[in-house]
Amino acid sequence: MLTFTLDGITKTIDVRSKEKLLEAMLRHGVNAPHSCSSGACASCVCKIISGKVSMDIDLALDEDEIKDGYILACQSRPLSTEIEIKYN
Ligand code: FES
Repeated sequence: MLTFTLDGITKTIDVRSKEKLLEAMLRHGVNAPHSCSSGACASCVCKIISGKVSMDIDLALDEDEIKDGYILACQSRPLSTEIEIKYN
């Protein structure tokens, strides 16, 4: 399950195995910020609050951002059953 906070509203949705977080939100009709969907533009950046993901591509983030928990929703696949993220 993915819990996300976007525009001050928190919701929980299911994420299919190997599905990217952005794909799951779009499948549920969530207007999640994105543009390139290929890991290059950083418009989908959000912060992971709990849980774990793996990113296919993280070139739009620097090391410090990754250490601080920022992820690209368009490139992140779940590694834990519960994930919580927050958009700024
Ligand atoms: S939408 Fe461009 S990096 Fe995710």
